[in-house]
Amino acid sequence: MNSGLFNKFKQTQPDAATGRTAVGIESADDDRTMSAELFARLRDFIYEQCGIYFAESKKYLLEARLSRRLAALQIKTYREYLRYASASVNTRTELPALFDAITINETYFFRNPPQFNALETIILPEIIAQRRKKGVKTIRLWSAACSSGEEPYTMAMLILEKIKPRYPDMKFEIIGNDINTKVLQRARVGVYKEYSIRNMPKHYLLKYFSQEKDKYILNQNVRDLVRFISLNLYDARAMRSMINFDVIFCCNVLIYFDARSKQQVISNLYNSLGEMSYLFIGYSESLHGISKAFKLVHFPKTIAYKRE
Ligand SMILES: C[S@@+](CC[C@H](N)C(=O)[O-])C[C@H]1O[C@@H](n2cnc3c(N)ncnc32)[C@H](O)[C@@H]1O
Repeated sequence: MNSGLFNKFKQTQPDAATGRTAVGIESADDDRTMSAELFARLRDFIYEQCGIYFAESKKYLLEARLSRRLAALQIKTYREYLRYASASVNTRTELPALFDAITINETYFFRNPPQFNALETIILPEIIAQRRKKGVKTIRLWSAACSSGEEPYTMAMLILEKIKPRYPDMKFEIIGNDINTKVLQRARVGVYKEYSIRNMPKHYLLKYFSQEKDKYILNQNVRDLVRFISLNLYDARAMRSMINFDVIFCCNVLIYFDARSKQQVISNLYNSLGEMSYLFIGYSESLHGISKAFKLVHFPKTIAYKRE
C-alpha cells in the first residue's frame, strides 16, 4: 500500500459518530506509515545488527521492504514490528527474515572481468608459488557477501578451466557467505536464469552448464568446489573463525554500509587474510579513509588490496 496515501486518507475521513476529522489523534500514533522517529529507530536497529545503513533518502525503500514482512507476520504497525524484531535478537528467529527483506542481491557471473583476469594470470600463480615453497598445498578463496553464488562459482570455473590444469598438485577451497538465507539457498541449488549468465563467455556456459528451457543448471563438479555459509560480515565474533584466506572478494556490499561499519567489516576481513594475501572490493568502492592497513596493488584495468 502507498503509505503516504493511507495517511492522508486517515487524516481527512470524518469520524462517523462526531463528524470531526481525526487529524492529530490518529496521526500521532499512526505507525502504519513510518514516522521520522520510527524510521530512525528501525534504521539504528538494522545498523546495529548488520552494518547496513539506510540514509534518510532511503526511507521509502525500507518502508516498502518491511511492509511485506509485516504483512507476512500479520503485524499491523512498524512500531510493533520493531518490538517483535528486537525481542527476537537473542533467539535469532526474526533476524534472518529481516535480512532477507532488506538486502539487495544484484549479482551475475564474471561481473568484473579484469578482477578475474588478475586472479587467474597474476595473483593465483604468485600465491601458489609462495605457498608451495612453504609446503602448503591448499589455496583458500572467499567470496564475501556472495548473494546467489555467481561470484564464487565464477572463481570455481576459472580454477577448473585455467588453474587446476597448470597446478594439478594444488587443492582449492572456496567459501561463499551471505546474511540473506534465501539467496544462499539459491546458490546451493545452482540453477540460474538468463540474467545471471549474460556476461559469461560462451565457452564456460557450454562447458559448465546444462540447459533446461530458460534454466541454466550448473554442473556438479563446479558446485562441489564451493561451500556456502550464513555469516554476517559485521559480526566480529563470528568472523573470528574465518582465517587464513589467500584471496577475498568483498564486492558491491560496502556501498550499503556507512564509514564506521565499513571500517568494522574491513578490519574483520583484514584479520581473515593470511600473509601476502589479496582483497578485492567493488569497482565503485574504495578503502580511502577506511583503512591504512593495506597496500594498493595495480593490475590491468583493476586494483586490489594486499595485506603485507
Ligand atoms: C549486491 S550483492 C553483491 C553480490 C556479489 N558480491 C557481487 O558483487 O556480485 C550484496 C550482498 O551483500 C549481502 N550483505 C549485506 N550485508 C551483509 C552482511 N553484513 N554480511 C554478509 N552479507 C551481507 C546481501 O545480502 C547481498 O546478497
